[in-house]
Amino acid sequence: MLNKSFYITTPIYYPSGKPHMGHAYSSIVADIFARFKRIDGFEVLFLTGTDEHGLKIQREAKKNSKDTKLFCDELSSKFKDLTVTLNLSNDDFIRTTEKRHYNSVIDIWARLEKSKDIYLSKYKGWYSVSDEAYYDEDEIETKDNLKYAISSGSKVEWVEEESYFFKLSSWQDKLLKLYEKDNPQFILPGSRRNEVIQFVKKGLKDLSVSRTSFSWGIPVPKNPKHIIYVWLDALTNYLSALNYPNTSDDKYKKFWPADIHIIGKDILRFHAIYWPAFLMAANIPLPKRVYGHGWILSDEKKMSKSLGNILDPIEIIKKFGIDQLRYYLTKEVSLGNDGNISLDSLTNCINNDLANNYGNLCQRVFSFIDKNCNSKIPIVEKFEKKDKYLSDEIINEIPKLRKFINNQELNSYIKQVIQFSFNANKYLNDEQPWSLKKNNPKRMNIVLYNILNQIRSISILLSPIMPDSTNKVLDVLGVEKKERNLKSIENFHSLKSGVNLKKIDILFKKIENDN
Ligand code: MSP
Repeated sequence: MLNKSFYITTPIYYPSGKPHMGHAYSSIVADIFARFKRIDGFEVLFLTGTDEHGLKIQREAKKNSKDTKLFCDELSSKFKDLTVTLNLSNDDFIRTTEKRHYNSVIDIWARLEKSKDIYLSKYKGWYSVSDEAYYDEDEIETKDNLKYAISSGSKVEWVEEESYFFKLSSWQDKLLKLYEKDNPQFILPGSRRNEVIQFVKKGLKDLSVSRTSFSWGIPVPKNPKHIIYVWLDALTNYLSALNYPNTSDDKYKKFWPADIHIIGKDILRFHAIYWPAFLMAANIPLPKRVYGHGWILSDEKKMSKSLGNILDPIEIIKKFGIDQLRYYLTKEVSLGNDGNISLDSLTNCINNDLANNYGNLCQRVFSFIDKNCNSKIPIVEKFEKKDKYLSDEIINEIPKLRKFINNQELNSYIKQVIQFSFNANKYLNDEQPWSLKKNNPKRMNIVLYNILNQIRSISILLSPIMPDSTNKVLDVLGVEKKERNLKSIENFHSLKSGVNLKKIDILFKKIENDN
């Protein structure tokens, strides 16, 4: 069963400040895909980490009067802690200051030099330290005599220095062929793909891939006054985690090329243009997909320190719960688009979908069985075909659900699963097991077994999104760990009759609207 592999990554985060909701979002989304693939029988490698080199980090450390490495250690550990707070199932956490990463960046650089894709010249132009990106004149605007990058709004500064260049211009046609012919789904969603194609068609300039005005990074071999451009360094992390350059390593063989890089739309250019060009030049197979999600907006604006509208994921989790936040972000924000979040809509979502729907379904049925069936999963002598329509509804939809996930249509997935929960609640109301108790206990048992089986299936399907709460429910039902997968949903009788239901607390407390 485990011969299918799946490699998924988050962006690696700049440890330049504390993690915020935008970071949490990229990670949660990637975690949901990783968890789904695991319950679908794949061997998954899920990677996240921190991007620690470059002028941005060096300056931030200086501002805080800290040694740069110590500064990175402190902040990187905050991001590592966040993986626990968010309940991420990452298999690895990479830091670009690690030796394993250094080795792989040096190897990539050597390959690019060998293929003659790198040459020495002089860079003259704009650079944004905050974005760690070069901008052309037509990507810049002037406000109050200061220059800003139009796309990100961050300040740019003029740079003039000796620099190595990567011959990006010579990869233009190959890149277009990649997007248009070889792998039309390389960039998703489609709107982002179009943006990239238009940008590349306008013409690509060679890219400066080294800087000499600071020291915090990986030096160019044989010319160490040059520091390798932080994006060339950072992107390579996806290979370093597989023990590249050892291409005969099991991890590399099993997991490269990556199945998907989950990123935010602001870093699309680096992943969808530079990264495949570097890899083609280095003669390394390309990842299969780059998915650029939208931004999380607060008060309809991108969260930023300067606007003071940052929602702190840790505070929200403390107040509402991690599963609640995971569910809300994925239900409320349509993955490919920007989405506004607010405490009011979070409250409504918890109350309507979780407390009143899925949570209420579990609680009603468990407490009925507790009172009326001696707290045991009822024993059913014989099922009629008609009794299985409820579970067939889910079994028949599994191929569609799988397709939603494989196309990163997370909202459609959630909406479908929560609909199953509505339907199960309706079945309970229609069949009224409480009125069958006296005159038709056999039928009552069938109805209850059916609903418990639905709760089992729905919980398995929701487990990538809300791992904690759904595992509690599956524990109540005595579903073994190895059965918590899609395959077992298809096996109607795998729910064991006679099992004693364990007691649980309220799964999702209703939130008063004045939060
Ligand atoms: N270090 C680079 C990534 C290198 S990957 C080889 C970087 N780091 S970051 O910390 O600035 O951002 C990481 C991710 O967080 C990006 O995907 C970015 O889109 C995401 N978000 C930051 N703010 C965001 C929102 N407000 N909403 C959603 N995601 C946003 O870029």
